[in-house]
Amino acid sequence: MMKPVRILGIAGSLRRGSYNRAALRAATQLVPEDATLDVFELDGIPAFNQDEEQNPPAQVTEFKRRIREADAILIVTPEYNYSIPGVLKNAIDWASRPYGDSAWSGKPAAIMGASIGTIGTARAQYHLRQMFVFLNVFPINQPEVMIGNAAERFDAQGNLTDETTKDFIRQLLRNLVDWTRRIAQSQGV
Ligand SMILES: Cc1cc2nc3c(=O)[nH]c(=O)nc-3n(C[C@H](O)[C@H](O)[C@H](O)COP(=O)(O)O)c2cc1C
Repeated sequence: MMKPVRILGIAGSLRRGSYNRAALRAATQLVPEDATLDVFELDGIPAFNQDEEQNPPAQVTEFKRRIREADAILIVTPEYNYSIPGVLKNAIDWASRPYGDSAWSGKPAAIMGASIGTIGTARAQYHLRQMFVFLNVFPINQPEVMIGNAAERFDAQGNLTDETTKDFIRQLLRNLVDWTRRIAQSQGV
């Protein structure tokens, strides 16, 4: 039996009824048998201040530890004003600092996102992919899981009810696990 691939899931919304947090919860139920998916909540991470980067708050130290411990990352992002929410960008920035001590470098990753609009976070996802270039994160390209019209795909309790979306998430996680193993193999891990 191969060692399970440990995925760390991060949602870019703090909202109680968040569709993106709900999509991440759904993903924890759709993860392949040869992987695990744990969630890190971004609540309580203060605004980034470069004066503090050598001595970061405890939540940031813990966040970086969890990223480093994970074999792969799943980011579930809302779209705010055609980009990713500040809360997610802030957390990404903290974990990338100080220079030379980024927790992101070399991590395989997958992206998905849910929006109440029709475009399903496409613009936010492409901004995230742009950040991955500098962060040296290795995202999988497909499937692109852009959950548009989210209000129609979750029930009032925040359960994902749309079977097509579930299939996309299953495939995304399958591809992430395979991609992570390929990268580990190429590094002789
Ligand atoms: C500040 C703000 C900006 C938003 N901008 C966009 C946007 O650019 N594109 C979009 O599809 N939805 C946008 N929305 C609507 C979000 O899709 C919607 O609020 C969604 O529920 C947020 O994700 P969540 O449910 O995980 O909190 C915006 C919402 C907020 C609060």
